[in-house]
Amino acid sequence: MPRRLRRARISWRVPVEQQQNRRILLVDDNESIHADFRKVLQTDSALTAAVESAAASIFDEPVARRAPVAGFEIDSAYQGEEALARVLKSVERARPYALVFVDVRMPPGWNGVETVRRIWQVDSHLQVVICTAYSDYSWPEMIDELGESDSFVILKKPFDNIEVRQLASALVVKWSLAQQARRTMCDLQAVVRKQTRAVQSAHEETIYRLVRASLCRDAETGAHIRRTGLCSELLAASAGWPAERVDQIRLAAPMHDVGKIGIPDAILRKPAALTSDEYSTLRDHTILGARMLAGSTSPILRMAQEIAQCHHERWDGTGYPSGLAGEQIPEAARIVAIVDVYDAITHDRVYRKGLPESEVQKLMLAGRGTQFDPRLLDVFMSLLPEMQAIAQSIPDENGEEVLPEWCSTLSSL
Ligand SMILES: [Fe+2]
Ligand SMILES: [Fe+2]
Repeated sequence: MPRRLRRARISWRVPVEQQQNRRILLVDDNESIHADFRKVLQTDSALTAAVESAAASIFDEPVARRAPVAGFEIDSAYQGEEALARVLKSVERARPYALVFVDVRMPPGWNGVETVRRIWQVDSHLQVVICTAYSDYSWPEMIDELGESDSFVILKKPFDNIEVRQLASALVVKWSLAQQARRTMCDLQAVVRKQTRAVQSAHEETIYRLVRASLCRDAETGAHIRRTGLCSELLAASAGWPAERVDQIRLAAPMHDVGKIGIPDAILRKPAALTSDEYSTLRDHTILGARMLAGSTSPILRMAQEIAQCHHERWDGTGYPSGLAGEQIPEAARIVAIVDVYDAITHDRVYRKGLPESEVQKLMLAGRGTQFDPRLLDVFMSLLPEMQAIAQSIPDENGEEVLPEWCSTLSSL
């Protein structure tokens, strides 16, 4: 009796093939080519079973089963138009093909290159094998038609079965890896977005608290702060600023007077007129504010620093703290200078009443080219109805409520 032959048992594992999309579309006008491809590409589980059964009789014991070589799921199209329809349907059903074999010559319809160009418009992730004879398109001609891409290869006729099988196996793996890379990239982008939002919202909350701290000292209202941000935003946008900077000035403008935190109450809250020394101390709020905001890498805080430093400079050079003139004054500060004065004179303060609109216009125009940048003032005057609408939507009596509301709008940016 022959000595029993023993074989090591092969453990079961999930074949890599089962984790992949193995859907292939064959596009060829010749029916016999489809039959040939199917023979090469479809599963050989029947063959596997026959081999295992023969082995079992030789070894006289049940043979540990070999994982079958998985085949491909194959669909056929006989013209380019039909291929396009199938690809479209596969995408709609979220069952995309991984790979398409396309013949170049398929009369009377589109040729293979035209077919590929169109199906890539529907599904740009498809891997493509273009089947061609030597006399068909050259490689440079195909590049001309389809562009540089690592998603197509050329298979020269006549085909070699093993080459076809290897190409199919390699390209479906490539499709799956590319898909996995895209998913990973999406996940990473979501994480980055979430973390950026968290950092941004912490940053915005800090701004909010800084403004709030300055309001504890100053007689200004929260409504004034909010209106200054919105009116500066409107003026900057109308003056042609890019959207990103327009967003920044809405957040930066409310910090224009944060330096008042450092001014003594005896001056800040003095119910009578200030002496010249006291007035000189009050002016220092510009320098103090700029110092508080200096050194940041945040574009919002850098803009806020410029505004805090220069919002009392005048176009004619007679302002403070540095006597800058014209375009030496940062544009953000020139914008806030206009908006801040407009808001101050249109609203009541403890020491005076807000002026009527006709007086306001006269006063603002009197500052054209002396106190204010003439170009920006012209834009501002053309926006008066919108400025009034902002003022009406945020009256002083709602001042305490607008800051938390402002804070929540920051977080949505
Ligand atoms: Fe100020
Ligand atoms: Fe102000």
